Amino acid sequence: MLCLGVVGMAAALQGCTSANYFAKIEGDAKKISIKKSEFTFTDGEKTKERKYVLVKLTQSEFPICLYKHSETEYSALLMYCPHKGCELLAQGDYLVCPCHGSEFTNKGKVLNPPADQDLQQFKTTVDNENIYIQL
Ligand code: FES
Repeated sequence: MLCLGVVGMAAALQGCTSANYFAKIEGDAKKISIKKSEFTFTDGEKTKERKYVLVKLTQSEFPICLYKHSETEYSALLMYCPHKGCELLAQGDYLVCPCHGSEFTNKGKVLNPPADQDLQQFKTTVDNENIYIQL
């Protein structure tokens, strides 16, 4: 088994550690797993939920944004803008391109141009403890 990249823990890209959190991953070049517990964190005595976590792969320049819609439904979106190839930024429930302003839903659909294609999406499955992303 090849350990993929595992990019540390809480990495803050834009000053909000709960928003842009890189999850720990296990797996190989075809399938990775992320613990469901990566979507929760404690803030003082309160347990809070992340809307998404980021996944850094060693074999890709672009991370995956893994959105949680429910306990059994997730979207794994490549953070690559189909307009001209910039890396997207996750902004709560949507993704935005810093280059020309395209926006995408948390399910990868185009919200605002100039991009005219949806995001590349990876199949996800779940069990009681993990989310699996088929690469
Ligand atoms: S590269 Fe993303 S909108 Fe142009």
